Amino acid sequence: MARVKVESTWYPLEPEESVLDGLLRQGVAVPHSCRAGACQSCMMRGVAGNVPPTAQSGLKDTLKARSYFLACMCKLPEGTGLEVAGAQDLRVPARITAVEQLTADVLRVSLEPEAPLDYRAGQYITLLRADGLARSYSLASLPREKHLELHVRQVPGGTMSGWLAREARPGEQVALQGPAGDCFYVPGASEAPLLLAGTGTGLAPLYGIARDALEQGHTGPLFLFHGAREPGGLYLVETLRELAARHANFHYRPNVLCGGGDGVEEGSIEALVRTILPKRPLGWRAYLCGNVEGVLSLRKKLFLAGFSLKDIHADAFLPSTPPGGPLAGAA
Ligand SMILES: Cc1cc2nc3c(=O)[nH]c(=O)nc-3n(C[C@H](O)[C@H](O)[C@H](O)COP(=O)(O)OP(=O)(O)OC[C@H]3O[C@@H](n4cnc5c(N)ncnc54)[C@H](O)[C@@H]3O)c2cc1C
Ligand code: FES
Repeated sequence: MARVKVESTWYPLEPEESVLDGLLRQGVAVPHSCRAGACQSCMMRGVAGNVPPTAQSGLKDTLKARSYFLACMCKLPEGTGLEVAGAQDLRVPARITAVEQLTADVLRVSLEPEAPLDYRAGQYITLLRADGLARSYSLASLPREKHLELHVRQVPGGTMSGWLAREARPGEQVALQGPAGDCFYVPGASEAPLLLAGTGTGLAPLYGIARDALEQGHTGPLFLFHGAREPGGLYLVETLRELAARHANFHYRPNVLCGGGDGVEEGSIEALVRTILPKRPLGWRAYLCGNVEGVLSLRKKLFLAGFSLKDIHADAFLPSTPPGGPLAGAA
């Protein structure tokens, strides 16, 4: 049997059980969401004992060196024990400064952290409510801007998105953890074509990345495809059109599955992206964000079209998963 110690108590783990599942099963509160190593909300720190390297996959080297790990990815070998602590020391207190409706079901949430957050446009943070509820959101803002900006889709029955829409008010105290992720613009090869594509709130990181690249003097063509089911699902349309009017190399391509017209293309985002790709996309870089199926499918198509995987940066917005897997909570 493997064991994990929190404060002064040892908790036994079932065979193959993760530290996160074992602790939650025994009533220990640990922030969590995806349970799949993608959101980093379940971060903990090893205090004594060995942290398995697989539990640190995707973490920054500085965090690995300080024994931080993802509790949902941490399975301990039989007969071993690990003493752990929470990741409170990585959190920055923040205050919600505004919640605005961008579409019928997308909110713009503005936040002011109490200490500077060192991030790159397009990375994501974990937002923690006072009771420990944790969800990850991509940053649409630029580091030079005073407020952090999130675009949050209101998920039917969603705990965090519902709270933000109905209850959270300016002045509300929250905490932030992060940033994380490698979906950001890296200066260099400034003439290379950039492809940015996402649906729904997948626009959040792309909006940050596009503005960051342009501000850093990117001169190559920059295509931003934002897709929605119908025109009401698009947002920041005028802002992005104005950005395109100011930068001849920025091509904003809003698109919908039905009801196109008035500068909005109709068709699947994948089909529209294909129309701009050359036979051999040498030197192209791609940024893909938003719902999991869309991101994975486009990533595969770009790879088959000749993109190197190292040139495709993707953040799939993995939803929260209840104990026991995606269907367990769907009663
Ligand atoms: C790296 C990362 C970045 C993210 N960035 C953003 C972002 O910028 N904007 C944004 O709106 N969201 C983003 N998300 C998703 C976000 O973290 C939450 O999962 C989302 O807001 C729903 O949380 P909730 O508490 O409102 O709903 P929950 O209470 O977690 O969910 C309610 C129910 O709906 C299901 N569900 C939730 N989302 C979906 C979905 N997309 N498809 C199918 N079922 C779903 C859940 O499994 C659950 O059964 C990101 C996720 C990750 C991992
Ligand atoms: S990374 Fe562990 S819950 Fe998301």
